[in-house]
Amino acid sequence: MRILVTGGAGYIGSHACVELLESGHEVIVIDNLSNSKEMSLSRVKEITGHDIKFYTLDLLDKVKLNQLFSDHSIDSVIHFAGLKSVAESIVNPLAYYRNNVSGSVNLFDVMTKHNVKNLVFSSSATVYGLTDSLPLKENCPLSAENPYGRTKIMIEEILRDLHDSDNAWNIISLRYFNPVGAHASGRIGEDPSGIPNNLLPYISQVAIGKLKQLTVYGNDYATHDGTCIRDYVHVVDLAKGHISAIEKLDSHPGLVIYNLGTGNGYSVMDMLGSFERANNIAIPYTIGPRRPGDIDASYTDPGLAMSELGWQANLGIEDFCRDAWRWQQDNPNGYE
Ligand code: NAD
Ligand code: WQD
Repeated sequence: MRILVTGGAGYIGSHACVELLESGHEVIVIDNLSNSKEMSLSRVKEITGHDIKFYTLDLLDKVKLNQLFSDHSIDSVIHFAGLKSVAESIVNPLAYYRNNVSGSVNLFDVMTKHNVKNLVFSSSATVYGLTDSLPLKENCPLSAENPYGRTKIMIEEILRDLHDSDNAWNIISLRYFNPVGAHASGRIGEDPSGIPNNLLPYISQVAIGKLKQLTVYGNDYATHDGTCIRDYVHVVDLAKGHISAIEKLDSHPGLVIYNLGTGNGYSVMDMLGSFERANNIAIPYTIGPRRPGDIDASYTDPGLAMSELGWQANLGIEDFCRDAWRWQQDNPNGYE
């Protein structure tokens, strides 16, 4: 199939491109490179030995987007493009609503016009908000706590309305839990700009000496060691989930939603200890105050993705830590 990947130069998108190409799909990537480098796609070509068509294109540029759909016959779209920083979204909410919501509406509009009605959308476990109903299932109530999370809920709702208005649409929203790790080749991985917000990139930068120490945000949560629990999922497993979703679209599923996680919860201290053991390296850390907005624990029941998509995560905590560290060591300055 010919698949358009929006945001394909980014962290999850580039890993998905590898899996798509290795599964025999043809890939067209559009990205405005606001949070990525084109080099990620050169690396994807290097890993797979296959070519990718790439266009620097902003989803807000509807004229160019329309032209792209006129120039290429597209079977399905995987929509990764979006801004993803919770903190930034609180400071600059309009940028998030404009980019994520308006950009998505532009995309769905142009898809409608060109009769392309197969879509996989990157949603997030953040849509469950501050919940304590664990494990999280797809039918748990939604409540976003910040503008970023609200953009994901809004886009999911727009997609529901779109499907209600026209049953020819086949839409799969994938709610990712905490994506971590990197491709085993060490050639593609997460390349955060500035100081990382996320745990594993932060630990990796401490390990390589770019940052002095990890601050563990709170050790008085109601968990086995007092630190927060998350469902970390390897980015290559996640990428494979998109192949399962693309194949599922063939069965005309209508609108469906799947949580993608392992179902295992690990604490901050579990991750830290595992990184130290897997890579034989000591990570200096200190215990700091809680980070506003964090919840004690979040992990999924991966049963629905397993039964309906035939997808399940295969990689575990040692793989997360080993692959993140390989990527960091081989690319100390990311794609620079
Ligand atoms: P990323 O920032 O690495 O990738 C997103 C890509 O989209 C970037 O390459 C960026 O340049 C591009 N982009 C942003 N706005 C665009 C626009 N208007 N037009 C064209 N391109 C645009 O992020 P990621 O971690 O790969 O995340 C991919 C998707 O998954 C996002 O939608 C994100 O919200 C979602 N998600 C990510 C996580 C996570 O922790 N990484 C968790 C859950 C959901
Ligand atoms: C994990 C744990 C921190 C950094 C975020 C977004 C979410 C989703 C995934 C997009 C927490 C702790 C972290 C540090 C720490 N993204 N931590 N010291 O917050 O679960 O999820 O990314 O959809 O929307 O909110 O992930 O990696 O930031 O934190 O102690 O320096 O590590 O408190 O318990 P989070 P994270």
